[in-house]
Amino acid sequence: MKTYLVGGAVRDELLGLPVKDRDWVVTGATPDEMLQRGFKQVGADFPVFLHPDTREEYALARTERKQGRGYHGFTVYSAPDVTLEDDLKRRDLTINAMAKSTDGELVDPFGGREDIRTRSLRHVSDAFAEDPLRILRTARFAARLQPLGFAVAEPTMALMQQMVKDGEVGHLVPERVWQEIQRALHENEPGTFFEILRDCGALARLIPELDQEEAFPAAIQALRCVHKSGGDTDTRFAALMSPLTPEEARNRAAQLKAPNDCLNLARLTTSLAPQIVAMTDYRAEVLLQLLEEADISRRAERFNRLLQALKCALPDTEITKLDWLISAQHAALSVEAKELLAQGFKGKELGEAIRNERLQRISALKRTQ
Ligand code: CTP
Repeated sequence: MKTYLVGGAVRDELLGLPVKDRDWVVTGATPDEMLQRGFKQVGADFPVFLHPDTREEYALARTERKQGRGYHGFTVYSAPDVTLEDDLKRRDLTINAMAKSTDGELVDPFGGREDIRTRSLRHVSDAFAEDPLRILRTARFAARLQPLGFAVAEPTMALMQQMVKDGEVGHLVPERVWQEIQRALHENEPGTFFEILRDCGALARLIPELDQEEAFPAAIQALRCVHKSGGDTDTRFAALMSPLTPEEARNRAAQLKAPNDCLNLARLTTSLAPQIVAMTDYRAEVLLQLLEEADISRRAERFNRLLQALKCALPDTEITKLDWLISAQHAALSVEAKELLAQGFKGKELGEAIRNERLQRISALKRTQ
């Protein structure tokens, strides 16, 4: 029985990046031997075990053959005669298909180290095409490693284009797609993820509204801007969707099974942005309506993220309008319901009195700004 460090840990070590998870492959062992040594089996179908002390993952060397279409339908073959090279061969990219023995020797049958040197994201073998999720993973690695000079190798891009033509993207379940998008939004160059998807044709299948001459650069610019200001997932997604109509943004977010908060921020951003552009004077009624749509009374914290997304989505010439919106928000929230209650307002009348007072205070801003 032999043990090797594999995958991301070997890659990141060679790149001089911090290693997060360490995954191991074990050759020449059976599940029973692993259990006898105190490993705990995780997952019924895969021969993957947790180390009794470190809790790191140890997988028996395996091969995978695809049977059905899409992400499902793999048959896993694992036995003591499966070699380390067999296991590495089923992996996605050469830079992810290296191993290191416990005495420090690098096992690199597919040229991963050379591809690290030449900054190439290259598929290991034709088996890449058996898993369409790898298109998204490759785009995500491009987004992560682009600042180090990495690019998708030409034959890999050609293979991804062919996979898209063959309809493979349609077999991905939304949950996996969203998981990759969500991760990609936080990579070093999130825009690169969507550029690679566009180049291989996958964007036209996954978010067709963005695969448009004008919308695409606007979306990428807004996303880069939110990335620079350190936005969370919802804000990044809202910026990405900002060139869409509110209906398109909502439908796409729902189809991608994005979480509700994410969907709502994208819908609000796409709804408010054109209204702000159209705003020519700063009438209190218009400002208050925008604030009510943003539900500032109940969602004060979300309003900040909305502003962050809008700041990146609006044309430069329109951004000063956000200062008006912020002043109006402070004025509106300065109205205290309890003061009006003390004056005897109740129920529906109280609501109206609050609104009138808010309008008055927003109007008063005009005289001071
Ligand atoms: N892998 C693969 N195809 C997939 C998923 C994973 O070939 N669809 C392989 C790759 O060799 C990868 C390893 O399994 O290196 C572990 O996968 P994962 O933990 O998802 O990725 P990492 O490479 O460790 O990257 P990250 O830093 O994002 O965790």
